[in-house]
Amino acid sequence: MDKLQFYVNEKKVVVETLEVSVDRTLASFLRNDLDLTGTKVACGVGGCGSCTVLISRYCAEGECVRHSTVNACLTPLYSVHGTHILTVEGLSDSKSYHQIQEAIALENATQCGYCSPGFVMSMFGLQTEESDAKAEGNSCVSTLKTALQGNLCRCTGYRPILDAFYKRSLCNSKCQAAKDGCCGTNDIEDAGKSVGKQSAYCIENKRAIKQNGSDKEMLKRIKEILLQQNLQCNKPLTKFLTSTKSSWVVPTSNEELAKAILECKNFKVVAGGTSDEFWKSLADKPHIVIDVTKVKEMRCVKLTDNYIRLGASLTIDEMQKELKLAVNKLSESKTKVLKALLKMIEVYASGQVRKSATIGGSLVVTSSASDFQTASSGFGLTTNFAKFDGCDNGSNIVESIDIPIIEEVKHAWYEKVRRRKDFDLALVNMAVLVTSRSQEKHKINISFGGTLLQRFTIAEEKNATIQELIEGTSDFVKLIKSQVLEHICPEQLKLNPSVKSFVEATTTNMLIKFGVHLTDGSWDNDKRYDILKSTRLLTKSEPGQPKHDLVHREVPHASAIKHATGEAKYCDDIPKLKNELELIFVLSTRPHANILSVDFSEALKVPGVVGTVTHKDILEGKNKFGLVEKDEEIFASSKVTCNGQIIAGVLATSREAGTRAAGLVKVEYDELQPVIFTNEDAIKHNSFYSAYDIKLVKGDCEAVFDEGNNVLTGEVKVGSQEHFYMEPQSCIVIPKGEDQELEIISSTQNPTGIQMEVANVLNVPAHRIVVKVKRVGGGFGGKESRCLMIALPTAIAAQKFGRPVRCVLSRETDMIITGKRATYLTQHRVAFDNDGRVLALQMAVYITAGNSIDVSMAEIERVIVNLENAYNIPNLDLKGYICKTNAASNTVFRGTGAPQAAFLMENIVDMISTYLKKEPSQVRSIQIYQDNDFTPYGQSLKDSTVFRCWTDCLSSSNYQSKKKDVEEFNRKNCYNKRGISINPINFGIGYTALHLNQGAALVNIYTDGTVLISHSGVEIGQGVHTKMIQVATRVLGIPGEKVRILETATDKVPNSTPSSASMTSDLNGGAVMNACEELLARIQPYKQKNPGATWEEIVTQAYMDRVSLSATGFYKVPEMGWDPETRVGNPWSYFSSGAAATVVELDCLTGQFQILSTDIVMDVGKSLNPSIDVGQIEGAFMQGVGLFLLEELVYDENGRLCTAGPVTYKIPTVNDTPLEFNVSFLTGDGNPKAIYSSKTVGEPPLLLATSVFFAVKDAIRAYREANNKDRNFRLDSPATVEKILLACHTILDD
Ligand SMILES: Cc1cc2nc3c(=O)[nH]c(=O)nc-3n(C[C@H](O)[C@H](O)[C@H](O)COP(=O)(O)OP(=O)(O)OC[C@H]3O[C@@H](n4cnc5c(N)ncnc54)[C@H](O)[C@@H]3O)c2cc1C
Ligand code: FES
Ligand code: FES
Repeated sequence: MDKLQFYVNEKKVVVETLEVSVDRTLASFLRNDLDLTGTKVACGVGGCGSCTVLISRYCAEGECVRHSTVNACLTPLYSVHGTHILTVEGLSDSKSYHQIQEAIALENATQCGYCSPGFVMSMFGLQTEESDAKAEGNSCVSTLKTALQGNLCRCTGYRPILDAFYKRSLCNSKCQAAKDGCCGTNDIEDAGKSVGKQSAYCIENKRAIKQNGSDKEMLKRIKEILLQQNLQCNKPLTKFLTSTKSSWVVPTSNEELAKAILECKNFKVVAGGTSDEFWKSLADKPHIVIDVTKVKEMRCVKLTDNYIRLGASLTIDEMQKELKLAVNKLSESKTKVLKALLKMIEVYASGQVRKSATIGGSLVVTSSASDFQTASSGFGLTTNFAKFDGCDNGSNIVESIDIPIIEEVKHAWYEKVRRRKDFDLALVNMAVLVTSRSQEKHKINISFGGTLLQRFTIAEEKNATIQELIEGTSDFVKLIKSQVLEHICPEQLKLNPSVKSFVEATTTNMLIKFGVHLTDGSWDNDKRYDILKSTRLLTKSEPGQPKHDLVHREVPHASAIKHATGEAKYCDDIPKLKNELELIFVLSTRPHANILSVDFSEALKVPGVVGTVTHKDILEGKNKFGLVEKDEEIFASSKVTCNGQIIAGVLATSREAGTRAAGLVKVEYDELQPVIFTNEDAIKHNSFYSAYDIKLVKGDCEAVFDEGNNVLTGEVKVGSQEHFYMEPQSCIVIPKGEDQELEIISSTQNPTGIQMEVANVLNVPAHRIVVKVKRVGGGFGGKESRCLMIALPTAIAAQKFGRPVRCVLSRETDMIITGKRATYLTQHRVAFDNDGRVLALQMAVYITAGNSIDVSMAEIERVIVNLENAYNIPNLDLKGYICKTNAASNTVFRGTGAPQAAFLMENIVDMISTYLKKEPSQVRSIQIYQDNDFTPYGQSLKDSTVFRCWTDCLSSSNYQSKKKDVEEFNRKNCYNKRGISINPINFGIGYTALHLNQGAALVNIYTDGTVLISHSGVEIGQGVHTKMIQVATRVLGIPGEKVRILETATDKVPNSTPSSASMTSDLNGGAVMNACEELLARIQPYKQKNPGATWEEIVTQAYMDRVSLSATGFYKVPEMGWDPETRVGNPWSYFSSGAAATVVELDCLTGQFQILSTDIVMDVGKSLNPSIDVGQIEGAFMQGVGLFLLEELVYDENGRLCTAGPVTYKIPTVNDTPLEFNVSFLTGDGNPKAIYSSKTVGEPPLLLATSVFFAVKDAIRAYREANNKDRNFRLDSPATVEKILLACHTILDD
């Protein structure tokens, strides 16, 4: 048997295969066996790019080395034999880092940093690709945006990432910055020469940038390694025996392949290994896995007069390159199919998946959504199967495909309708091929597929023009329509009956698009933009401000460099501890049922399983938790109330063994009724948390309605949203072995919450439990209370077994078990005058809380109190209800109800302006709050800046002229329409629960002059640690390098408020300032006595004089407080205001849109850190785009989440960012209510994404008007492609 051997970061790795299972991934090996934790695993299914590495292979046919960026989470470890793997750690060392790492760090392109290593590696891959293409005399296939399309970032909104790479000339893609002379033609040698601005204020120790040319040298060394390895590794029929008894076999020819197949009937073929199908098939324990990627016959490329033959083991990326070469060689008339295939490849998965997935795998994988298969049947590709003499076994093995390049092909057209522009499966895809042997006789071949359709193909030969054939009335179209209905996937139809209308409309529209293309040949069926324009007008530091004083300066995130180099450690990056166990949950598969029995017997037989944990392991009466009400069971005892509820846990020595075992636990149920999923179900069954019903009344609505004003009534819904923090919920609990002490390391936003709940459940005093958090890979509210459901079972298991226990959720489990934003149903009645001024508004708001109250009472309160958004409404009657449903308990999410409130109010104004046929911005203008107005609950709006933000945004965005352009565009275009919207926001800052408005800090000065800060905030990517360091530099008068924050820990600073509600900088900034001022006062006498002494000398003198150099600080927000009964008073410390204007272009035939421009004006006071604040604005805005337009959670009839991962749940990607994205800060005096006149900025800008929703609605309205449909129509959020398309094409009157 052979030894598995490869190189990682130029170091040789030899693996004892008998210890490695056949399903081991490269990512797991890098992280767990080599401690290379820079490679993150945020999804494990190829959908996020956080595990991107560069794999280099010796390519026998070309005698060259090929580099490709791939997803390590989808790469079978056995497939990397003989290769070189470069991880993010390979680009830096303790003395230097790569220019890409510097760019991403210092241009503020990291926030939580969890995605950063993946972006660095994708960018490095692009540079390598550009350099290789240049060396081969070709042009590079990828652009920056295609290279990054497989990398998700939930924090930044992508603009700074794109900017970082464009501005520093790290790639050849064109950008706006090119006009500033910074984008040129580079290769690896030149890249980084024209380095962008160096941040003068980097807190981390900057290292040298790797020398120009060092990449070339490294790649040269890698080539030498591969050449050497090739001699040892690339021998015929390599064979590994794995720990799971299967062999992994790598034939290099058909002959060897036949030999392998003949040896054993129970085999499984693998190529790229990217399909779910392949990984699942390993559970069937095949005797041999045959890796066909090196079979030479399957890597052939042959160009003949009539076809081009491509080997089945070529990757989709290699296919793309070959097709481009062929297009360049062939006459125009022969390239139609090739060009259509290239279009298909552009919208096929991501760069990383295309570099692994093969032609063969794509043809064979069972997926109705496969683009490749729709294209193959539509364009008449021929599949050639391998032939083995005397062996029937392998008759299904694809050897190659033939693509026709015949002159008879007159048109080839590929179209894919999907929810997200990039990296999404087709809802419906279509490939059309038209061949003609004579002028009159045409053959049309159309194949449809997609997630909504089972693939089918129709072929017709007619004596008619194609135009006639595809006209709406022709028999051919009727035939298509009838077949489409027969092929709709029944499961999809069950989930959503409107699928039928959507599929009908889409398929017809796709034909119309094809028809338009035939008419003028101009319609680009998938416009690609690589242009990014962005400006940022930010506030500046004060004139004459000393250099050491970092307040108001653009200081990069304090961990930015560690993020970019992969050195930043997150919870699961902590190496395995001695005796550690992994905890995997057993989850309910019913939404409402009694538990009859739980059988662990099969699970306990799995090697590595140590035991289980259930409610029986908890002290009597302690099986409940909750931050406000203890109404949720830690482990379901006798009944489950949602699908995905935790019933038990399996403890094992490895995550893989635990996962396998948890799947074997058998639970018997007795199902219960009713099952309540929606707000409507809850209303029907009167299922509410009635104790938290809420009302807000101002004036007398009924009197206004009686006065005969204009009145509109209606209903609208706002959907839920998954937090999709990149770091899944994680926790390690370590029993210290004495006095019941526990150390808990968690990815929480709420360390004190965990400390107190664990103390309560285990009946251990709080002072024996220390919770520590170094950093969190994104939280957005999802780790404020929901972290408890992970920490508590882990602590119970650690106590039971007396061993360290680690619990790290897979993305799927995380999405299934943790709550999300609530779903909203609202009913409204509004009275308004003829100018559109709202006179009275009545609204009932229903939100889904799920199976426990969690903190939903805070959400309903926020919605009701924020409902007027930025408008002065004289009469209001608002009611809020929390629905108790059979779903995982929902929780807060960035903005906690305020985004939905803003949406609901903007929807009211939109309805009114549509009804009155008035310009929406005018209707908004006349009722936006003015300085000194009062809110409905009586808080003064003294110094309100919302109207100033509004007028500034109107002018800086050139709203009026853009509006004219939009109208002009719409007059000229009948299927593409543009829309525009400008929307204001006014967001109250603070916790309505008064006690939470406090922060604390501990500041220690050491005698070498360095300072260590601890404070009660958690670094979740929002940059709070950086801002705290900035505060300390100002008060203490020392440079940032001297100040450090190690972690957040409950033994350093107790009783912390969760890091949420945008308050963390305000609260802890005040506390850090307080502690630093105290210390300064103590050392001031020594400063005065020794004016020439250094800081180090002064603190040493103070120490020698027995002065304490450690101080605590405390801050409570002044002038706050309201009466929760009457809802009158000052619930907020101040208001954060802003406005955004957005223009979109909508393809009304598919429902897909592009944001053309967004202009934001935001009041951040005198920003503590402009680059961090602008990052918060852009990131929050893009999260809002996800909420209102892209992200949709779908459940089946059993309440099972069908969209539990990035393959089906779509957060924005790099290509969803506005093509022009301008952000400016409102200039002015600053904010007297927060530290150094700043204003907080974490949540409010998310609300500005309403401008995208209403711009899309505006475009739909234009299309409806042009097609004589009612301009008043209802559009619920999220306005997904399906909803947009139906709104364009059906009569949905409000
Ligand atoms: C995140 C993600 C997004 C994706 N998006 C898209 C998309 O937008 N559009 C799209 O069309 N696809 C998409 N795919 C790709 C698709 O789903 C498959 O993963 C891919 O086509 C499989 O190719 P592979 O070489 O990795 O096959 P493998 O995973 O290696 O194998 C797949 C199946 O094919 C068999 N097989 C492999 N090679 C051969 C052969 N030569 N002969 C016979 N059988 C063979 C295997 O036994 C297995 O059953 C996506 C995949 C991922 C992971
Ligand atoms: S972890 Fe590999 S792509 Fe998400
Ligand atoms: S910085 Fe990209 S996910 Fe947090």
